Amino acid sequence: MTKEEKQKQFTQILFRWHKTHYRPMAWRNTHDPYRILVSEIMLQQTQVERVREKYAEFLKKFPNIRTLAASPLGDVLRAWSGLGYNRRAKYLHEAAKRIMLYHKGKFPDDIDELLALPSVGISTAAAVSAFAFDRDLPMIDTNVRRILVRVFFKDAIPTDKVLYAFAQLMIPKGKGRAWNYAMLDLGATLCTARNHSKECPMDELHGFVEDFVYKKPQKKFLHSDRFYRGRIVAQLIVGPSTKRNLGKSLGLSAPRIDALLGGLFREKLIIQGKDREQLIHLP
Ligand code: ADE
Repeated sequence: MTKEEKQKQFTQILFRWHKTHYRPMAWRNTHDPYRILVSEIMLQQTQVERVREKYAEFLKKFPNIRTLAASPLGDVLRAWSGLGYNRRAKYLHEAAKRIMLYHKGKFPDDIDELLALPSVGISTAAAVSAFAFDRDLPMIDTNVRRILVRVFFKDAIPTDKVLYAFAQLMIPKGKGRAWNYAMLDLGATLCTARNHSKECPMDELHGFVEDFVYKKPQKKFLHSDRFYRGRIVAQLIVGPSTKRNLGKSLGLSAPRIDALLGGLFREKLIIQGKDREQLIHLP
């Protein structure tokens, strides 16, 4: 089979399979770039099932970019709670403010302008371009990358750039949205990293696959900085507190709480009140 034939077969199998395996998700029923950006940032580090509920709640509170940009960050962090990685909420808020300020509230549809927004890397920019503006650009997350490597790059792992250009050429004209959804669904359900499914429609095309061995060593979450940063923000969502009380309730030494608060202050995820008690607040 020539390379071209293989690519053609891949696309045919992918679309045929997806006719019966499409996973409905609320953010797939809109072309509103704001709603799509919210979903993509939530999905960056959180599973689809957890995002579903939070996404609906978030949009109820912040139905459009104007409302989000005009709200205090504290309210955004409150709506984000439970999703983790609070920095994403801050970046999303920042992106909304920038779009209001520099684009008069009109969402940029240019890939470079999207890339200039905080927390928007190439895969999120391509996702927004494909899902909101119907551009034929590939959204390559780790799952999509794995499928393409299995089928087309078994012997030589491609660079991100090479893979992006390759994937872009694979997308049939006008089918960016559909191609990306199909790839995301395949990578999340059957052509998986571990326990690869016998039902995978690409089984014959990619042949035997071993478990995808590369796995970033997971840092222990419990008692990590990220764990305590989340706990501090969660506590301040309930109400302002002092350094002493935060340290005490989390059982942290003075230098540790100093370091954690220092980081959160620098990122402006929390602010120091000027009152006598020196209460720490959400912004
Ligand atoms: N559908 C649209 N964007 C998605 C994403 N980032 N992950 C999974 N499914 C999606």
